[in-house]
Amino acid sequence: MQSFFEMSSHNHYSPFLARIYDKVLHIPIRNIRRSVAEEIKNEGAIEVIDLCCGTGNQITYLREAGIVQAVGVDVSENMLHQAWRNGLKNVCLKMDASATTFDNDTFDAAIMSFSLHEMAADTAKGVFMESKRIVKPGGLLIVVDYCFDNHTRPLGRFAARAVEKFVGGDHYRNFKYFMAEDLLAKFSDGLSIREKRRFLFGAVGMWVYVNS
Ligand SMILES: C[S@@+](CC[C@H](N)C(=O)[O-])C[C@H]1O[C@@H](n2cnc3c(N)ncnc32)[C@H](O)[C@@H]1O
Repeated sequence: MQSFFEMSSHNHYSPFLARIYDKVLHIPIRNIRRSVAEEIKNEGAIEVIDLCCGTGNQITYLREAGIVQAVGVDVSENMLHQAWRNGLKNVCLKMDASATTFDNDTFDAAIMSFSLHEMAADTAKGVFMESKRIVKPGGLLIVVDYCFDNHTRPLGRFAARAVEKFVGGDHYRNFKYFMAEDLLAKFSDGLSIREKRRFLFGAVGMWVYVNS
């Protein structure tokens, strides 16, 4: 079932939500955006892909940090139109992040930011596996998503759940499953990747994996 904010399975975000997305999230997530850009810059990554880039906001932060060869892919036309309005016309492309057309070992780093939790589990796993395929050995896979562990404050959990419930629909169901099943840990277990660092920003984690 779809909620007010969703449109269809192919156009996950309404024009309204796509338009307000960056404005609403700017203050809560700007430090996370900067940290992702800093991590990538410190590693000397040049070719970067933002899988499920949405409005391309993270790419704007990368560009400000001097990483100009970043591209993004997303399936939502409304989010992509907003990215294009944000000056990222030939940078953010319409493509399924779980089955991109990029060759193996193309990128120095891939970002999956605030996206895995909202997808059906198979799709989320497909996106994670795709990031491993298209990132070079030694490159980075960076995931930014909710992290509910012993360090997470109750208020952070409450706020995260409230936001996801507000969006509703399949998005909320997928979020609950993602968190309850600790899917990110399951995706990374047994893969030849190494968790290099993890940061916590309230109820949001930033995982930095190295591909091998
Ligand atoms: C919450 S938004 C996050 C956008 C952006 N990564 C950010 O950090 O703001 C999740 C995005 O994932 C996209 N998405 C969902 N499934 C996708 C898929 N299979 N391939 C590409 N994008 C997908 C949605 O269209 C949406 O733009």
